[in-house]
Amino acid sequence: MTTITVHSFKGGTGKSLIAVFLSYYFSKKKEKVLLIDCDFGAPCLETYFPSKGNPRPFTSYLEGESEFKQVVQKTEIDNLFVSYAPHPNFGEKILSADVQTHGRYLKKMLEGLELAHEELGFDKVILDNSSGISLASINQLSCCNKSLIVIRPSRYGVESTYDLIHAIYKKLRYFDSDSIREDYLIWNQVPINDHKTLDPRIEDYLKQWTQKFEDAGINHGATIPYITKVVSAMIADTEFDLPEIASLLNEYIEEIGQKLA
Ligand SMILES: Nc1ncnc2c1ncn2[C@@H]1O[C@H](COP(=O)(O)OP(=O)(O)OP(=O)(O)O)[C@@H](O)[C@H]1O
Ligand SMILES: [Mg+2]
Repeated sequence: MTTITVHSFKGGTGKSLIAVFLSYYFSKKKEKVLLIDCDFGAPCLETYFPSKGNPRPFTSYLEGESEFKQVVQKTEIDNLFVSYAPHPNFGEKILSADVQTHGRYLKKMLEGLELAHEELGFDKVILDNSSGISLASINQLSCCNKSLIVIRPSRYGVESTYDLIHAIYKKLRYFDSDSIREDYLIWNQVPINDHKTLDPRIEDYLKQWTQKFEDAGINHGATIPYITKVVSAMIADTEFDLPEIASLLNEYIEEIGQKLA
């Protein structure tokens, strides 16, 4: 059973983009994939997969108001299913929820993941996590057996992520001693020059930090450049073309997908 969460310490690193195109990649490989928008305060799956009707949000399952299968929706892509986050107002509720409530959500989450694999036949479940260290995001980290930690090369982003590894990720390894966790570092939005090469200073910086993360048990997943065409494709005045964006990201997503297979 493969459950993957895409997390980061700082916001806007590219978690959702990577979660969506990794899901797309596995579905094209004929795997049955469920992508859950777990960024309850700031959902974004509607952008990639506009919903029809008024789908029940994933949180209504956590709250015990819906069955798991009622919060799973088909998309136009074969083998790819999604579960939407609720209206952002729920963000307020989950942010103010106490530890006991989060404990209850975690239990439901673990039951739901098992059901997704055992009864609904999903090969991969991917959770698009929120950034930071809220109880909700740590719950999501702890119930997945693989994770991607997405970082942009900037001083505070990298150093604080490294601290997070020691504060949280290492402890998660002891959470379920029978399972083998795999956590990968993804460099994203890395500036490249015209000839697709890195500035030597940035290259050195990435090399040095990749090694430090590796020493802390986090292997290198991929280095994704800042791709201007992805930015243009994501602007609201152009028609949204999922396969086109997938083709721009393909070589990097494939590298990640092969490591997570
Ligand atoms: N490699 C890249 N090249 C160009 N644009 C990118 C790249 N990665 C992400 N982006 C863009 O950066 C923006 C932020 O990405 P995204 O929403 O995936 O980040 P996030 O980590 O999910 O953010 P949040 O913390 O708010 O959930 C998006 O507009 C996305 O298209
Ligand atoms: Mg996001």
